Amino acid sequence: MSFHVYVTRRIAEPGMKRLEQAGVSLEVNPEDRALARAELLAKVRGCDGVLCQLTDAIDEEVLDAAPQVRVFANYAVGYNNIDVAACRRRGIVVTHTPGVLTDATAEMAWALLFAAARRVAESDRFVRAGCWTGWGPMQFLGTELAGATLGVVGAGRIGTAFALKSRGFGMRVLYADREASEPLERELGARRVALGALLRESDFLSLHVPLTPETRHLIGRAELEAMKPTAILVNTSRGPVIDEAALVTALREGRIGGAGLDVYENEPELMPGLTELPNAVLCPHTGSATVAARSRMAELAATDLIRVLRGEEPLHPVP
Ligand code: GLV
Ligand code: GLV
Repeated sequence: MSFHVYVTRRIAEPGMKRLEQAGVSLEVNPEDRALARAELLAKVRGCDGVLCQLTDAIDEEVLDAAPQVRVFANYAVGYNNIDVAACRRRGIVVTHTPGVLTDATAEMAWALLFAAARRVAESDRFVRAGCWTGWGPMQFLGTELAGATLGVVGAGRIGTAFALKSRGFGMRVLYADREASEPLERELGARRVALGALLRESDFLSLHVPLTPETRHLIGRAELEAMKPTAILVNTSRGPVIDEAALVTALREGRIGGAGLDVYENEPELMPGLTELPNAVLCPHTGSATVAARSRMAELAATDLIRVLRGEEPLHPVP
């Protein structure tokens, strides 16, 4: 194949190997950093396929710069970085990587939940700073999971996997979704409730919705105020699902108990004040960052890119 393929940033080895063995003319961003806008616009020119990251905004301007492109293979399950409607109008295929990062991301949500509940990051900083002078009866009291109510917003693949992993922790599970989830109701006796009830009743609330116009700022000031003052909010979905300024205020004023965040409204910028809050645990968008998940994501993205260029149906086109 004489197709020209551009990879906007080096991905896990199984994907790179697949691309190298496909016999395409392959160009890879030589630097381990996201492309600047101008670089992206210049690099997509003349490409038949682009393997892109969630940090690359694929919009009309990029499509205009890449009249030849037939496929954008996104190295992510979320695809809010791509104007899918514009691609569709031009007959460009968009693929993503569902399924293979479900457990990794659900596990990260639990890591953040536990870290916030038991103040792990705050305790770690305390110990490293040499502040610990010995065991204390009132040191770092946290929140117990057993008997608490777990609220899950979005019962898709990741939300479902996250909720199912609560088996063993003895929690009552509620969820909000447009549709009833048979596995959650059958396996956990979970109850589907409206978002308002979920906010009021949850001790732990975890977000698992895609970013769309409807979910932008789904959790804003009013929603934070409806939550329990002890509640812990976890977000491994997309940053703009939460109004981050309102969250900083709510955490600072103790309107909620804490937060575990993997994603931010304007990555990699953080809302001023966020890093000063002891009750926030912050990870750098690493929900899918396990060796296993990233290897499978790389394989999936590379495979679909090649399939489309060969005129085959992709395995994972965006829905
Ligand atoms: C990561 O955020 C992804 O959508 O895969
Ligand atoms: C995303 O992969 C989801 O369906 O949760």
